[in-house]
Amino acid sequence: MKDMSDTKTMILTVAERFDDRGDIMQLTLKGDGPLPLFTAGAHIDLLVETPEGPLWRQYSLAGNPADRDCYRLGILKDPESRGGSTALHRLVKTGEKVHVEGPRNHFPLATDATNTVLFGGGIGVTPMLAMAWELHDRDAPFTLHYATRSAERTAFLDQIEGLPFRANIVLHHDDGQGAEPLDLARDLPKAEAGTHVYVCGPQGFMDWVIGEAEKAGYPGKQIHREYFSADVDATGDSFEVYCEQSDLTVTVGPDETIAKVLAREGLKIEVKCEEGICGTCVTDVLEGEIDHRDQFLTEEEREDGDQICCCCSRAKGRLVLDI
Ligand code: FES
Repeated sequence: MKDMSDTKTMILTVAERFDDRGDIMQLTLKGDGPLPLFTAGAHIDLLVETPEGPLWRQYSLAGNPADRDCYRLGILKDPESRGGSTALHRLVKTGEKVHVEGPRNHFPLATDATNTVLFGGGIGVTPMLAMAWELHDRDAPFTLHYATRSAERTAFLDQIEGLPFRANIVLHHDDGQGAEPLDLARDLPKAEAGTHVYVCGPQGFMDWVIGEAEKAGYPGKQIHREYFSADVDATGDSFEVYCEQSDLTVTVGPDETIAKVLAREGLKIEVKCEEGICGTCVTDVLEGEIDHRDQFLTEEEREDGDQICCCCSRAKGRLVLDI
């Protein structure tokens, strides 16, 4: 079971806002004292006020996990997103208070790796920077490939140049100016037991790296991924859901989700991302065939068939939930 701990809300202060290259805003958040510990790959949930109402959005922690003085985030202004990142870019100022939950980690580093290869595409570099810190502290071998369109669109560049593990970072620019584009035939090492690959970035970048890693013979448990957003199709045929503890039966229509139908009946399942990436809405399943639509559960968890993301996944036939 993934780490779903700590849902307490903290109020932190924006100690610094810095508008970096590539439409990425760096935020440094501080509290009144040491912040809760996090491990590399963790994210926090940030409450964003949008014209449509408050939204919780997930942002990876980019700083050194050993530094409990602050949380560092990189937030891409993405006009294609559902409004969270553009609202943050518009509204957040140094000195303001923000509501934060977490940290939680659904993208942890393997503890048994003998070699680690990190691929960050654009804003996907944020969890990779924390991973690089942790691997450096462990004195573990690793390479971070950071791919962007050009040097002018490469956030964190100034910090990267001063990092104690700068030699482990390979920059790649699609325009070939100052750095070679990422070439997986060259940059993805041979699949060996103990070599783990991590990827985070836009969907096309992730599909490419994951596809090439699979073709190169990496088993699923050595390919680790973190999605920032997902183009999820949550529609499908109607199905019935029985909630055993509440003794409630509902029908989920073609355009509805389990979470929304149950909320209408007064049974609230907490949701945050509503697109199958954060894991907040994961619920135990007692019976039934799940039609997984999320990006959150691993292949192994899907095969177990005893958990469902109620914000987007569906069922074939009747589903019995342990709520
Ligand atoms: S609310 Fe994020 S996975 Fe369902």
